[in-house]
Amino acid sequence: MNQPRGQWSSRLGFIIAAAGSAIGLGNLWKFPYITFENHGGAFVLVYLVCVLMVGLPIMIGELLLGRKSQLNAAGAFAHTIGPKWVHAGRLGVLTGLIILGYYTVIAGWSLYYVAKCLTWSFAGYTPGLSSPEAFGAFVSNGPLQFTLSMLFMGATVAVIMKGVGHGIEKLTRTLMPILIGILLLMLFNALRMTGAGEALRFIFIPNFAELEASSILEALGHAFFTLSLGMGAMITYGSYLRREDSVVYSALAVVALDTIIALLATVIMFCVIFSVPGLKESIGKSTVGMLFITLPEQFYTALPMGRVLAPLFYILVGFAALTSTISMLEVIVSWLIDERGMTRRNATLAGGASAVTISIFCAMSLGAVGGLSSFEIFPGKAGVLDTLDHLASNWLLPIGGFLLTIAVGWFMSREDTYGELIDQYTPNWFHYGMWRFFMRVVAPIAVGSIIGFVIFAGTDFS
Ligand code: TRP
Repeated sequence: MNQPRGQWSSRLGFIIAAAGSAIGLGNLWKFPYITFENHGGAFVLVYLVCVLMVGLPIMIGELLLGRKSQLNAAGAFAHTIGPKWVHAGRLGVLTGLIILGYYTVIAGWSLYYVAKCLTWSFAGYTPGLSSPEAFGAFVSNGPLQFTLSMLFMGATVAVIMKGVGHGIEKLTRTLMPILIGILLLMLFNALRMTGAGEALRFIFIPNFAELEASSILEALGHAFFTLSLGMGAMITYGSYLRREDSVVYSALAVVALDTIIALLATVIMFCVIFSVPGLKESIGKSTVGMLFITLPEQFYTALPMGRVLAPLFYILVGFAALTSTISMLEVIVSWLIDERGMTRRNATLAGGASAVTISIFCAMSLGAVGGLSSFEIFPGKAGVLDTLDHLASNWLLPIGGFLLTIAVGWFMSREDTYGELIDQYTPNWFHYGMWRFFMRVVAPIAVGSIIGFVIFAGTDFS
C-alpha cells in the first residue's frame, strides 16, 4: 500500500456516509412499489423481520470484516479468511460495476424530472403530461438516456476522486440532512390528505391472508439491496471505520435510518395514491412507474404545495441515488488502489470508464436499440438493463451475501469476531452469542433459500 488509507472523521461521519449508501432508489422507488404489489401490511412486517434477522447481522459482519482487515472487499476476504476467498471479494467488485452501470441510468431520470418539474412549476402543468406514453418516449430516447447517465456518472466520479473524508463524507454530510428535511416536509403535507388514514392502515396493519410465499423471498432479496449488502460496499466503508467507533452501534444506526426512510417514502406515496379517486385501481400493473409516471401528475393536481414539492422531491431522489452510486464506485476504486497499486485518480477514472461502457448498453436498451431492448435471458426481463438488474439483485447479491455469512460465521474464529465487536464502545444490550448464531445459522439458511428458490422455482423476487 503506497498511499495512506482514508478514514471517516467520526462515528457520525461514517453513519451518514453508510446510510447515504443504503438510502437510494431502493427506498424511494422500489420499496413503495413492491409494497403495493405485495398488498402492504403483512409484506412490510415480513420485510422488517428480514431486515432485523438477516440484514442487521450481515451488516455487522461486513463492517467487522472491513475494519479488521483494513482492506478493500477482495483483500479483506483474502487476508482475513484465506487466499481462495479472494474470488468472493472479486465477485463483489464485479457486482458493483454492474449495478453502477445500470443504476446511473435510472438515477439520470431524476435529473430529467427536476428539469421537467421546474418547467411545470413555473410555466404551469397540463394534465396528461406525465402519461405512460410520454414516459415511453423519454426512456426510448437513447442519446438523452446516455447523456443523463453520463452526467450522473460524472458527478459520482468527481466525488470519489476527492477521496473518503473530503469527497464521500463531506458530500453525504451536506446532502443527507437536506434529504431528510424535504421528506419530512412532504410527509407533513401528505398526512393532511384525505387518504392518509387508509394509507397508514394499508402499510401498517398486516393481513396475513394476503401474504404469498414469493413475497417472503422478495422481502428478503430487497433487504439486501436496500442495505447495500452482498457486494462488499459495507466491507469497504467498514475499512475506513476508526477503532474507537463501535461496529455494532454503527450498523444498527444505518439499518434503522434506512428502514425509517423507506417507510416514510412509502407513507408519503400511498397518502397521495389513496387520496385520488380511482388512482389506486388504475395503477394496476404499472406499479414500476409509480415514481416517474403516477406521482408527477399528483404533485400538480392533488398534493398540497405540490408545485414547490415536485422539483424538490426529484432533487431528493437524485441526491439519494448519488450517495449510493459513490459507494458502488468506491468498492471498485479501493480494490484498484489496494490490489493494483493505482493512484486514487487513475483508479477512479478507470472504474468510471468501465462502468460507462455498461451504461451505454443499458441506456440504449429501453427502446432506443431494438436488439438491446428486446432480448431475454431471464423470462420476462427484456433488454440489457432489466437483465443486469435481475442478474445482480437475484443472483449476485444473494450469492455474495451467502459467501459472507459462511466466511465470517464459520471461517473467522470466535476470538477474532469477538475482538472486533466487543469493546468498551459496544452498547450493552448487544448479545454476542445471539449475533453469532444468526450469522452462522439463520442468515445462511435464509439466504440459501432465496438462491434455492430462484434456481428451482425460477420466481422473480427482485
Ligand atoms: N442501497 C442502495 C439503494 O437502496 C443501492 C446500493 C448502493 C447498493 N450500494 C449498493 C445495492 C451495494 C447493493 C449493493 O438504492
